[in-house]
Amino acid sequence: MHTIDIDLVEMTLDVMKYAIDRISNVTPELGAPKKEEDLLRIVGETVTASGIGGEAAFKLFRDVLVKATVPIDHPRHLAFVPAAPTRAAIMFDLVTSASSIHGAYWMEGGGGIFCENQAMKWLVSLTGMPKGTFGVFTSGGTAANLSAIVAAREEWRSRDENHIGHKGLLITSDAAHSSVQAMAKVIDADMLMIHCEGDNLTGKELQATINKLEEKDRKRLFAVVATGGTTNAGIIDELDTIADVCGKENVWFHIDCAYGGGALAARSVRHLFNGIERADSVTIDPHKWLFSPYDCGAVIYKDMELAKNAHSQKGSYLEIFKDEGAHGFNPSEYQIQLTRRVRGMPLWFSLAMHGTDKYRVAIERGIELAQIAAKKIEDRPYLELVRPPSLSVVLYRRKGWTPDQYREWTYKNHRDGVALVTPTKWKTNGEFETVSRFCFINPDTTEKDIDVILDTME
Ligand SMILES: Cc1ncc(COP(=O)(O)O)c(C=O)c1O
Repeated sequence: MHTIDIDLVEMTLDVMKYAIDRISNVTPELGAPKKEEDLLRIVGETVTASGIGGEAAFKLFRDVLVKATVPIDHPRHLAFVPAAPTRAAIMFDLVTSASSIHGAYWMEGGGGIFCENQAMKWLVSLTGMPKGTFGVFTSGGTAANLSAIVAAREEWRSRDENHIGHKGLLITSDAAHSSVQAMAKVIDADMLMIHCEGDNLTGKELQATINKLEEKDRKRLFAVVATGGTTNAGIIDELDTIADVCGKENVWFHIDCAYGGGALAARSVRHLFNGIERADSVTIDPHKWLFSPYDCGAVIYKDMELAKNAHSQKGSYLEIFKDEGAHGFNPSEYQIQLTRRVRGMPLWFSLAMHGTDKYRVAIERGIELAQIAAKKIEDRPYLELVRPPSLSVVLYRRKGWTPDQYREWTYKNHRDGVALVTPTKWKTNGEFETVSRFCFINPDTTEKDIDVILDTME
């Protein structure tokens, strides 16, 4: 397994050929999942005592298994939050794997961590947060949100020993991503959700909610989580006024920009994020709107020492890594993971190769595509906008359709290889309604792609 022989050379050539073909294919087949038993019937058991050979295993993957996946960079994949990694970033993901770098500590990963830190410097600059602010790459937005709220909870507990042993309380809005609630559960914190009825969360609503807390709950409040681009509708909370309240109440202010963070680079919408510079921590997912391959999230902290106090692991086997002699930045000390891939490297290479201006242009295109789609929706009598587009998300309805019709339409388009566009729900006049949703990320999506999809709704 560890020797270099003709089989290895052949396998390498197969893999490189596949990688080159795949990254130069702008419209890969829109695959769909098959049932596990069907896949098993086609490919058979693949893990055996003597192995089936690289050629056979790779053929099964290339000809069958990858076709049972949806290429997230397909230009008509507009569901969830899609992705569109740059070709440079994908190629460098291969280089990251081939280089076998341990990204936990500078002593072992210094050169790779240097690359990550260069990319991080740009991300931090987009936020406008003060000197001393920095961050680390994580496996995604969920891990970044978890890392940030653990840092917040630890800071709260360190302030007053009366807090030790008490459950923390976190406030967010009902439009926050599901991972915020899930991670509050992981750290066994209680969560209070402010109902925004489809609008953004404001400092006024936050203050009113805090004012209504009983004294014992007010003491448990350790963090507020605002959203910089909600997953469902692209809405940005009123960050400036929320920052005022968090400052006045001395509560940690976290902003989840996992999806919207890329738009910090877009001059047309940057003002919507005003107030982000006053956050204690921010989540941004490069694997969403910064064109990195999966998986790559990022957590940014105003005070890195607070993050280190929360996350630095201790063990006699780790002491050498923190020694003066190992001089450097240790990413593992600022988030939940110890052993880690240097997953910011693909972003770094792509940024270094293309420059940040091209990123700004590609992100602006997502926003522009949302505006174009909105216009096309307004021009079609059978369609209607639910609300004006926000960032790159468009919510619209097919007049007269039931939830079942939206579901059938999604499945049919997917089955036919046309598109993957999924329904969501939106509250209109106090009632949840099923509607259709576009989220644009891929700058290769064309106006014609939008027409093709909307025409299938007639
Ligand atoms: C606003 C927001 N936060 C967090 C997440 C979770 O990120 P991840 O799936 O990378 O863990 C998402 C995912 O879509 C998101 O949109």
